[in-house]
Amino acid sequence: GNNNINAKLVLLGDMGAGKSSLVLRFVKGQFLEFQESTIGAAFFSQTLAVNDATVKFEIWDTAGQERYHSLAPMYYRGAAAAIIVYDITSTDSFARAKKWVLELQKQGNPNMVTALAGNKADLEDKRKVTAEEARAYAEENDLFFMETSAKTAINVNDIFYEIARKLPRA
Ligand code: GTP
Ligand code: MG
Repeated sequence: GNNNINAKLVLLGDMGAGKSSLVLRFVKGQFLEFQESTIGAAFFSQTLAVNDATVKFEIWDTAGQERYHSLAPMYYRGAAAAIIVYDITSTDSFARAKKWVLELQKQGNPNMVTALAGNKADLEDKRKVTAEEARAYAEENDLFFMETSAKTAINVNDIFYEIARKLPRA
């Protein structure tokens, strides 16, 4: 009935941050140690039941390589939600995530539900970005923040579920 929501969701972030791995974990429950770098973008869909509603995510997994940057607006335009992904072991990827936040603030849909995902949380011994720093940044920029691991699955379903919960109901 009225509680079926279709939601376009885009993943943005540096190459190698783990965007495709998060999607593969969420959609297929799988993880690949040697996930191939995305060319252009890849499309997936997955449905989640949240309280009274069924949310069908139409997911665009974008390519993080810089040469694909100019394609990104095609994928975030009209998106209801975004997950900006960085790798907790890479300060460069965190800096790149902040640039995506700025780009969405300037050019994205102002009602977009935006999450910041600090991925590879299983690599604690290689951590370069603290959770405190990322959480403070997320709060200042009105994002919700979770550390995730596509490898162990920690917080992966949770981040999509939390987005589904926050989407405006028709
Ligand atoms: P592009 O498509 O190039 O933009 O990269 P991406 O953001 O899609 O990254 P991808 O999912 O391809 O992951 C890059 C590498 O990191 C792969 O070798 C993954 O196996 C690995 N990886 C992804 N997520 C995790 C994670 O949570 N933990 C660990 N340990 N490795 C991960
Ligand atoms: Mg990818």
